[in-house]
Amino acid sequence: MSEHLTITRPDDWHLHLRDGAMLVAVLPESARHFARALIMPNLVPPVTTGHDARTYRARILAALPRGSGFTPLMTLYLTEQTCPDDVSAAAAEGLITAVKLYPAGATTNSASGVRDFDRLRPVLERMAEIGLPLCVHGEVTDPEVDIFDREAMFIERVLDPLRRAVPGLRVVLEHVTTAEGIAYVRAGERNIAATLTTHHLVINRNHILAGGIRPHYYCLPVAKRETHRRALREAATSGDPRFFLGTDSAPHTDAAKLSACGCAGCFTAPNTLAILAHVFEEEGALSRLEGFAAQHGAAFYGLPQNRETITLEKGEPTPSGGTLETGEGPLTIFDPGFPLAWRVAGPSAKGCPP
Ligand code: NCD
Ligand code: ZN
Repeated sequence: MSEHLTITRPDDWHLHLRDGAMLVAVLPESARHFARALIMPNLVPPVTTGHDARTYRARILAALPRGSGFTPLMTLYLTEQTCPDDVSAAAAEGLITAVKLYPAGATTNSASGVRDFDRLRPVLERMAEIGLPLCVHGEVTDPEVDIFDREAMFIERVLDPLRRAVPGLRVVLEHVTTAEGIAYVRAGERNIAATLTTHHLVINRNHILAGGIRPHYYCLPVAKRETHRRALREAATSGDPRFFLGTDSAPHTDAAKLSACGCAGCFTAPNTLAILAHVFEEEGALSRLEGFAAQHGAAFYGLPQNRETITLEKGEPTPSGGTLETGEGPLTIFDPGFPLAWRVAGPSAKGCPP
C-alpha cells in the first residue's frame, strides 16, 4: 500500500523565472506544485522600478498555463539609485512583496548591484517604516575572501552592521549555506528569517568537485562542507518558523552550464517537493515539511495561508533528473543522486466548500 502525505499547497520564497522562451518553459514546472513564488528580479536589465515589476508580472501572467492559480509575488532589484518613494508606492499598490539586495558582482546578473551599502540608508529606513522585507544575497565580493568564506564574512562585515543601523528592517537571509548563517538567524530575536534551498540540503562541496567536476551542482552561494549541510538540514527540519523554503531554482541552458566558465544555478523546480519529502523523511521529520514548505514563509511575509492542498504519494523509487526542452536549448533538471520514492499526486480542495 502506498503512503500519502497531504499538506497545504506550498510557496517558493526564492525563484528565478527568467523571461521570454525560458520563462515559458520553466513557469509550468513551478505553477504545477506551488501556489505562490517570490520572483527574483535579476533579469538583464534588472527589475529596478515599480514600472519594471508591473510589466514583468504581466509577462509572467501571460505565460501561465490556462487555469493555473499561481501567483507571482514581485521584488525590486535594489541599486544605489533606488528611489524610496517608488518603493513605497509599489508596495502600497500591492505590486511588490520585497526588495532584493545583490552585492555588485556576487552572482548571475548582479553587475547593477550595490557597492556602497551606506548609500542604501534612506531606502532601507523607508522599508523599515512600511514593513517591507529586504531579501539579501549574503556574500561579500572581495576577491581576497575565499569563496567558501564569503557568506560568513558578509554576515560579519555587512549584514550585522546594516541591521544595527536600521533595527526595524525585516530581513531574509536568502539561500543560507553555512552553520554561521543558521546561528546568526537563530540569535536574532525578531525581524530576521532565512530561506533554504532544496539542493543545499542534498549536496556538499564534494558532490561538485570530487571524482570529476559536476557543473550542474554549481550554484551560488556554492555548497559548503558536510558539517554545514548537516546544520542546514537540522534547521530546515526543526520546525523553527524562521526557516522556510526558497528553492532558488535557477535555470541556465546546458550550453551555459557546460562551458569553460559555466553559469551558477541549479534547476530544481520540477522535483523539489519529491526531494524535500525524501529529505524530511530521512530526518524523521515528515510532519514538519508542511511548516517549512507551506506555512512559515507566508507567516513571515504576513500573507494568508493557502487554502488548497497537494498530496505526496510514496511508491517505487525511481531515478530523478533528466532534461527539459526550452526554446533556448536543453535544460538539465537537478539530479539528487538517489532515486525518489515520493512524487506529487495532484492538488485537491482542502475540506468541503461552505
Ligand atoms: C542565480 C541565478 O542564476 O540567477 N544563481 C544561483 O546560483 N543561485 C542567482 C542567485 O540567486 O545567486
Ligand atoms: Zn537566486
